[in-house]
Amino acid sequence: MSREAIHAFEAIIAQQLLRIEKLKEDATFLSYESLPKIIIGVIGGDGIGPAITAQAQRVLETLLSSEMKSGRVEFRTIEGCTIEKRAAVNKAIPDDVLTEIKKCHVLLKGPTTTPRKGDPWANVESANVAMRKELDLFANVRPVKIPELGIDWTFFRENTECLYAMGSQGVHVTDDLAVDFRIITTQGTERIARLAYEYARANGKKRVTIVTKANVVKATDGKFLEVCKAVGAEYPEIETDDWYIDIMTAKLIDEKRRKQFQVMILPNLYGDILTDEAAELQGGVGTAGSANLGTRYAMFEAIHGSAPRMVEEGRDIYADPSSVIRAGAMLLGHIGYTDLGDRLSEALAICTTTEKRLSMTGRSDGATGEAFADYILEKVGELHHDDGK
Ligand code: IPM
Ligand code: MG
Repeated sequence: MSREAIHAFEAIIAQQLLRIEKLKEDATFLSYESLPKIIIGVIGGDGIGPAITAQAQRVLETLLSSEMKSGRVEFRTIEGCTIEKRAAVNKAIPDDVLTEIKKCHVLLKGPTTTPRKGDPWANVESANVAMRKELDLFANVRPVKIPELGIDWTFFRENTECLYAMGSQGVHVTDDLAVDFRIITTQGTERIARLAYEYARANGKKRVTIVTKANVVKATDGKFLEVCKAVGAEYPEIETDDWYIDIMTAKLIDEKRRKQFQVMILPNLYGDILTDEAAELQGGVGTAGSANLGTRYAMFEAIHGSAPRMVEEGRDIYADPSSVIRAGAMLLGHIGYTDLGDRLSEALAICTTTEKRLSMTGRSDGATGEAFADYILEKVGELHHDDGK
């Protein structure tokens, strides 16, 4: 039995060393400007996903209507990335779906159900995790802004390594011993750190915070911290500090301290956890959008789950689409429509925090997702008149 475990470990090492060789190849980011046409793929996902994603698509299509007419932008609905189909073919992403995905430049994605032990479906890998790995979407960028509390954070979560890299390839050595593998590479860390510092520089941020548990997890977190600091040294105008993940979770609710944080870099799992905490402070995980960026592809998604119970109870029409719409605003900015993206974000802020004319309760006593999307579009239109853009 332990022989098999050693073989599994050997295979993992070989696979990761090969991956590092690929990472060393110089990769530059796709330039959307130089593309004759930008193809936006839309993946509805599971549970409330199709309902909220349809609203987000409608919002984006309305805002990009002239680009669609001129043929500069095309929307493509990608079918079949559902839990039923994924479980039936026993793949995190069915092959035909992946082929369609790869024909697009950017993706807008609703939540997908991740099966766990005991669920009625095969225990396939999470579609999110698989997509991030398949498309090498190494940077998970998650902004959290609460202006009235002076909070303006941008999390740069590494998205392809850490415990997620081998999350489905752990080994049951004996009935009593299970081992998972945590991967951190120099190249993988360097690229997320560079993106974070470049973002900080371009946006006038003064501080970058590296979050690890390097005092305990010495090899992998030790490397992550060291590599991030080395990248940081190339940006002398930016102050770098580092915190351990435990105290960092505490500091996010420390009213005096938290305002000082601006840009955070984290390994995958700590980033997963801390960004949920941060989103909760902003008003819930349903309010946050997330960008998954690679050099060739980019995927924008909601960070919450698929809420299957809402669908079982026939309430999916009341599901709040603002998370996917927020992801859509990030998508617009990413592909070069910065102005439209900003206006959509501003409209979202008005509809969800300041004016709040409609309330989303997830039930028939609240607004439908469709009405809420209309409300957002109406506000974007008003902003359009206000600033004359
Ligand atoms: C997220 C989610 C995913 C993750 C799940 C659905 C696999 O929690 O995007 O943060 O852990 O990354
Ligand atoms: Mg998460």
